[in-house]
Amino acid sequence: MAARDHRQLIAVADPAALARAAADRLMARIDANGGRIAICLTGGSSPKQLYALLATEAYRDRIPWKRVHWFIGDERFVPPTDPLNNMATARGIFLDRLAPPSNIHPIPTDADPDESAERYARELKSFYGADRLDAARPLFDLVLMGMGPDGHTASIFPDYPALNETERWVVGVPKANVEPFVPRVTLTCPVLASCREMLFEVAGRDKRAILTRVLSGENLPAGRARSNGETVWLVAKTALPENFRGE
Ligand code: 6PG
Repeated sequence: MAARDHRQLIAVADPAALARAAADRLMARIDANGGRIAICLTGGSSPKQLYALLATEAYRDRIPWKRVHWFIGDERFVPPTDPLNNMATARGIFLDRLAPPSNIHPIPTDADPDESAERYARELKSFYGADRLDAARPLFDLVLMGMGPDGHTASIFPDYPALNETERWVVGVPKANVEPFVPRVTLTCPVLASCREMLFEVAGRDKRAILTRVLSGENLPAGRARSNGETVWLVAKTALPENFRGE
């Protein structure tokens, strides 16, 4: 099976263990790259414990902050000061205290979603140094992902055109499928796939039903999103299907 078809699922005890496992995987990706590093963060509540952990002494002193660039996989179309803004959450928990400002790459929300998407695509292309992605040279070292109750990931919702986008790097999404019902901007599947590792964090009993559907192969964005390198799902036990025995 090709690397991009493979998905590894790692069960962990609880959200605290999930954050530790995610932080350790992030550190391994950082340690493996002696040059410029690109991490794509995600929104929602799942990564907050991970972000807090990265600010603790055990991790922050091991991160070569000057060499690490922080992007975001999707954004809710609210001002950068709004607590619902995904990058604002990451900034508030750890980035603003630790990362050089020029290494933080937020999705702008001061235009309309399509224009913001265009601007972010230009920023990504300029960082990457090319307009086309080369499978041998991934854009990101690590892409963090979450999964919503409808099976969405980033802001790629079930049956939305963004799911099948193959050309554009970033697209505007006029209306979200779930709360907050604000327009979104999202990186598209081929761009999210351009990474050494895509890492999902899933916790909570309320995710069990949708995770069961994703694992059974239903055509949902969270199941479709794969890395061209490694795809890893860290799942806290309460979210695992009752009879789960491994993939
Ligand atoms: C967003 C997201 C979204 C999120 C999932 C999981 O902007 O809402 O990036 O894709 O990751 O909805 O959210 P939770 O972690 O809150 O369950």
